[in-house]
Amino acid sequence: MTDTLFKWDDSFLIGIEELDHEHKVLIDDINRLHEELAGYKERSEIEKCLGDIYVRMQAHFALEERVMKEHDYEFFDGHKREHDKLLDSYTESMMQLLNDSGVFPNNPIEDALEHWILNHIITSDKKMSLMVQEKKASKAKLP
Ligand SMILES: [Fe+2]
Ligand SMILES: [Fe+2]
Repeated sequence: MTDTLFKWDDSFLIGIEELDHEHKVLIDDINRLHEELAGYKERSEIEKCLGDIYVRMQAHFALEERVMKEHDYEFFDGHKREHDKLLDSYTESMMQLLNDSGVFPNNPIEDALEHWILNHIITSDKKMSLMVQEKKASKAKLP
């Protein structure tokens, strides 16, 4: 067993339960990929991890975009553009890995995922969540 790449930290919490849950699951998946890449035993396991992360990212972004639409989030377009870029860069790295028949230590895919975790969740998702929660609170106050 190798060190995990990301330890879950409550500073990643954004305050919307279902999205926080998905972020945690994604971090688990990313750690699993990290372990598979570092241990490099089964290529099929790495391929499965890559596919799982792709499916989860896609579903997570779709859910988050639904939440933003529901609350008329004013920075929706910029946030969606970030999602699209993240998914594009992940897909590109994933395809490189899948097309590479050799061993792949230190693959840039981990940097891309780290960038996603550190920057996107902590900045863009948190900003979105604060505004969504303010809107929910002000709606709740209406008579
Ligand atoms: Fe997110
Ligand atoms: Fe997001």
